[in-house]
Parts: sequence; C-alpha cells; structure tokens
Amino acid sequence: MALDFALAAIHHLLVFALFGVFLVEMTAVRPGMDAKALVRVARIDAVYGALSLGVIVAGILRLIYGLKGWDYYTGNHAFWGKMTAFALVGILSIAPSIRFARWRKAFQADPGFTPPDAEIRVARRFLHAEAAFFVLIPIFAAAMARGLG
Ligand code: HEM
Repeated sequence: MALDFALAAIHHLLVFALFGVFLVEMTAVRPGMDAKALVRVARIDAVYGALSLGVIVAGILRLIYGLKGWDYYTGNHAFWGKMTAFALVGILSIAPSIRFARWRKAFQADPGFTPPDAEIRVARRFLHAEAAFFVLIPIFAAAMARGLG
C-alpha cells in the first residue's frame, strides 16, 4: 500500500512537471525568438526529455508494483489507448528536438544566428499536435484506473 501510494505520488508529480515544462517550451518557441530564447529552449527540451523518461519509469513501476497488478492494465483497452497517445506525443517531439539541437549548434558556430521564422512555425505545429494527444492521456488514465475499456 505504501509503495503504491509513493509511486502514485511520484507519477503525478512527474506528470505535472512534464506538462508544465511542455507549456513553458510552447510559449518560448515563437516567431522572432532571439538567441537567448534559443539556448533556453534547448535546455528546456533536455529537461522535458528527462522528465518523460521519469514518467515512463514511474509508470512501469506502477504496472509492476501497483495494487492492481500487471494483468489488470495489459488487459485494458484504455491502458493501451493511453500508451498509444503517450507514444504519439513522444514521436511528435522528435522533430522539434532535432530542430532545437540544430539551432543550438548553429548558434554556437555563429553567435549572430537566429532561427528562421518558417522553421519556428513548423516546430510550433509539432508542439500543437503533441498538445492535442497529451490531453488524451489523463482521460485514458482516468478510464483505465476505473476498469473502463
Ligand atoms: C504524460 C504521460 C502520462 C500522464 C499524463 C499520465 C497520467 C496519469 C493519471 C492522471 C493517472 C491517475 C488516474 C486516476 O487515478 O484517475 C495515472 C495513473 C497511472 N498511470 Fe499514468 N500517465 C502518464 C504516463 C504513464 C506511463 C508511460 C505509464 C506506464 C508505462 C503509466 C502508468 C500508470 C498507471 C499504472 C497508473 C495507475 C492507474 C490506477 O490507479 O489503476 N502512466 N496516470
């Protein structure tokens, strides 16, 4: 019971932190962003990646050590819906992450570099798509926790 509670608390804290960092990233990536914002975004993106890993680890530990057990979740469609939405968010985050790393490199090579607005707009489109799938995750989570699906 104590382990289940600790894992649930950690999972929730990581999930809230992840969403908070995601929103900060979304507001920082906008046309006209300067070099300072560029370096910040690359750092924020690294934190976002680390938090995602934390969420995965905490989630897997809940599957294994949670009160309901592995079979409860793997036999539930809402769980797989949640995993699919989570995977899509992860896949959609790859292109902007590569772009941020390229901007950072370009900035290191030329301190006068600023990201082209067209590339910023494409990155923002990916971030919006991520947000759309992100909101599905807690909905699936609520369903799976109650045995729906
Ligand atoms: C951004 C990603 C994620 C979000 C937003 C999220 C959100 C949530 C929320 C809100 C709950 C509580 C549901 C409730 O009690 O009503 C929950 C529970 C849970 N999540 Fe996640 N989660 C995420 C990723 C993951 C991953 C990657 C895994 C597994 C690999 C996972 C496994 C679990 C488990 C096992 C529970 C316990 C459900 C229960 O109480 O029976 N989660 N999640």
